[in-house]
Amino acid sequence: MIDAPAPVQSSSPSTARLLEKLRGRHIVLVGLMGAGKTSVGKRLAQRLGLPFVDSDHAIEESARMTIPEIFAERGETEFRAGERKVIARLLGERQQVIATGGGAYMDAETRARVREQAVSLWLNAELPTLMRRVQRRQNRPLLQGADPEATMRELMERRYPVYAEANASIMSQEVPHELMVQAAVDSLLTYLDKAEPASDTLKDAAP
Ligand code: S3P
Repeated sequence: MIDAPAPVQSSSPSTARLLEKLRGRHIVLVGLMGAGKTSVGKRLAQRLGLPFVDSDHAIEESARMTIPEIFAERGETEFRAGERKVIARLLGERQQVIATGGGAYMDAETRARVREQAVSLWLNAELPTLMRRVQRRQNRPLLQGADPEATMRELMERRYPVYAEANASIMSQEVPHELMVQAAVDSLLTYLDKAEPASDTLKDAAP
């Protein structure tokens, strides 16, 4: 007997509607280190049937160096220039879900490109959640100082007003990944429904 085909994930009504409303645009995830951009992004991409890419990995691949190596050998300014270039390239590719490094959206050029070519989602998170997650790995040069928590707090103050420019946002919580993915889909749809109402609705509303 032939096995029944695996259910197509994107057949859920909200997923199908989101894909339609995206009209080929990327989804770009922004937020601080430890917010869960990669884990939510991967699952969101899977649910939508889109490719997933992490800008940090793309930078490491093109530089053939790890992020800590790039920071140590070339410095943060060069890392940021590479990050801007790589994200511009990723935005020029076919539709995908792009998780960006925590500092990427702070760059005005990158923000402008994201606004034009993608719909952005901020993964907002509270300090204890971020600290719990980043403590698992030692691969973030910005958090190698004496007081990573103070650094994180300072980054929150500086960056949250800028992340808030993203089109949509969700609160990153310690809940099953599927709930985070559903929250992401709902939040993106809420934004798109409001910002880009269906043309029928516009016609109906016309005098
Ligand atoms: C950085 C975040 C990191 C990485 C680099 C710098 C930042 O990415 O790009 O260490 O400036 O916040 P994640 O947010 O994926 O950890």
